[in-house]
Amino acid sequence: MMLHIPGVLTREQVADMRRRLDESQWVDGRATVGTQGAKVKQNRQLPDTSPLGAELGQIVLQALANHPLFFSAALPLRISPPLFNCYAGGEHYGAHVDGSMRRIPGSAQWLRTDVSSTLFLCDPEEYDGGELIVTDQYGEHEVKLPAGDLILYPSTSIHRVQPVTRGARICSFFWTQSMVRDDMRRGMLLELDQNIQSLRARLGDSPEMVGLTGHYHNLLRQWSEV
Ligand code: NI
Repeated sequence: MMLHIPGVLTREQVADMRRRLDESQWVDGRATVGTQGAKVKQNRQLPDTSPLGAELGQIVLQALANHPLFFSAALPLRISPPLFNCYAGGEHYGAHVDGSMRRIPGSAQWLRTDVSSTLFLCDPEEYDGGELIVTDQYGEHEVKLPAGDLILYPSTSIHRVQPVTRGARICSFFWTQSMVRDDMRRGMLLELDQNIQSLRARLGDSPEMVGLTGHYHNLLRQWSEV
């Protein structure tokens, strides 16, 4: 399942982050990938240990915690500390799959990457190229979103970032270990949840609504690994 989640950050939050990121020092993005990724990755990132990255990452995590659609779609058990990257001057990231297991920096804990997220911090008019292309069983999907919007997609998918030929593309990205490992099950739960919410808004509560809500939670109880 791919899902566009609008307005994760407000325009003010984006502007503040951009102001601070524009003054920061970027390093070679190959620091955070394995051998296959390193061959095709050409971009820059804030260092893993950057205090600015940690501070801005907390703002992203806080915004996600307050976002019901992100919760419903990703069913997050653990979220990796958000990272920040920059592509300019032809930089790009060739076709790759995100590593399956990542160690959470500064801890002994591992995170299984089930859901990948990219949070755009630039508007599409600010740069040319830089589309995120995600391949799934239905073909290739091109993603370039307004600043503050997020795309989430299964970490199992092959994806790439097209060369940025004008301006700069600045994003935050991170991985989620979901309570529900299987992408199809997560998609079914999201659909059920959204339909229940829409029915409840239209018809109010009723014994059937309680039954459907119970069904959602019983499925989640069956499928979750916590
Ligand atoms: Ni990737």
